[in-house]
Amino acid sequence: MNPDLDKLQPYPFERLSRLKAGIEPPRELAPIALSIGEPKHPAPAFVGQILTERLDGLSGYPTTKGLPALREAIAAWAERRFQLPATSLDPESQVLPCNGTREALFAITQAVIDRSASPAPLVVCPNPFYQIYEGAAYLAGAEPYFINSQPALGFQPDFDAVPAEVWERCQLLFICSPGNPTGVVLPLATLQKLIALADAHDFVIAADECYSEIYFDESQPPVGLLQACAALGRDDYRRCLVFHSLSKRSNLPGLRSGFVAGDATLVERFLLYRTYHGCAMPLQTQHASIAAWNDEAHVRENRDRYRTKFDAVLKRLDGVLDVARPDAGFYLWPKVPGDETEFARALFAREHITVLPGSYLSRNGADGINPGAGRVRMALVAEPERCIEAAERIVRFINTL
Ligand SMILES: Cc1ncc(COP(=O)(O)O)c(C=O)c1O
Repeated sequence: MNPDLDKLQPYPFERLSRLKAGIEPPRELAPIALSIGEPKHPAPAFVGQILTERLDGLSGYPTTKGLPALREAIAAWAERRFQLPATSLDPESQVLPCNGTREALFAITQAVIDRSASPAPLVVCPNPFYQIYEGAAYLAGAEPYFINSQPALGFQPDFDAVPAEVWERCQLLFICSPGNPTGVVLPLATLQKLIALADAHDFVIAADECYSEIYFDESQPPVGLLQACAALGRDDYRRCLVFHSLSKRSNLPGLRSGFVAGDATLVERFLLYRTYHGCAMPLQTQHASIAAWNDEAHVRENRDRYRTKFDAVLKRLDGVLDVARPDAGFYLWPKVPGDETEFARALFAREHITVLPGSYLSRNGADGINPGAGRVRMALVAEPERCIEAAERIVRFINTL
């Protein structure tokens, strides 16, 4: 077997199951999971309807490149959302559908990395991070290099601390904005600094923007990497790719629908890779996705729901936990009293609430510090009453410590 498989770490939820094994939480308290970032708000009904109505494509193979109408809807959405010059994103050469961003983030790494480089190529990632970046790096024959996101810099990854020789070995930089789990949005100036670094050291930037549509201030949507390119007049989006998804935006994690867009040269090579990989999107999914990308009303409603929940939960946690409202996304990333795994275990044992220890989402950074230590991730995805109930139980738990 491929020896690089041995480098894959157990997934955070596997570690969480082990942490909870053998504990008997109080039966009278209903379980509340704040651990998984799986949207629980209702999926838009029109999407389900189209899925069931458009079964005419079942007897044919869909293409990897996807329907022109899907790529056109995506390009138009990205141009509207990120204030790109009209028709600057070519649906023919700069957009590809993907089956959720997870597979595409993994696959792009396999397509980009030149494993013959010496010394070994680096995939640079934020820390804490989405675990796919690390696994994708190992299986592509690269090594991950982690940049810590710490409270001292408002949880922005400390890009300035990365030595030039690391950038020189870097072939692929993952950024995640809004971040999971920190909720931090990278400002335009940072994105433009990273683009300059990519030019100087010849690497690709893969921007995981799957949380971009979950934000609190309607007048300030998070900026994206293509927007940063466009503001520089760089409308070929050279070296840059963005990854978007309907999973969080439209509460459709089961649809498996997203897209990658940007540099036409990279997209062309990625399409070749994907043709062999075999990951064409089913036609009914493509039709449903077109309708989802064309509608913003359900996305605004979704944001309203998160806003209400964050207000209610943060009001209850205020002064009890060291926690701040994130820039965007649906996670809280609080500092907890003592060790984060012990906190998670005891919270489950006493209050039947599951949170994810921060250290399961991070590694020791170059400075030897694990930025997830002493923190937990809470996903406010459940119904508002469940999230409020969870906050009240957490307050009760902390008051007994
Ligand atoms: C940071 C980040 N990227 C990507 C994904 C993958 O999402 P999907 O494959 O549903 O688009 C997730 C899912 O939780 C995530 O948290």
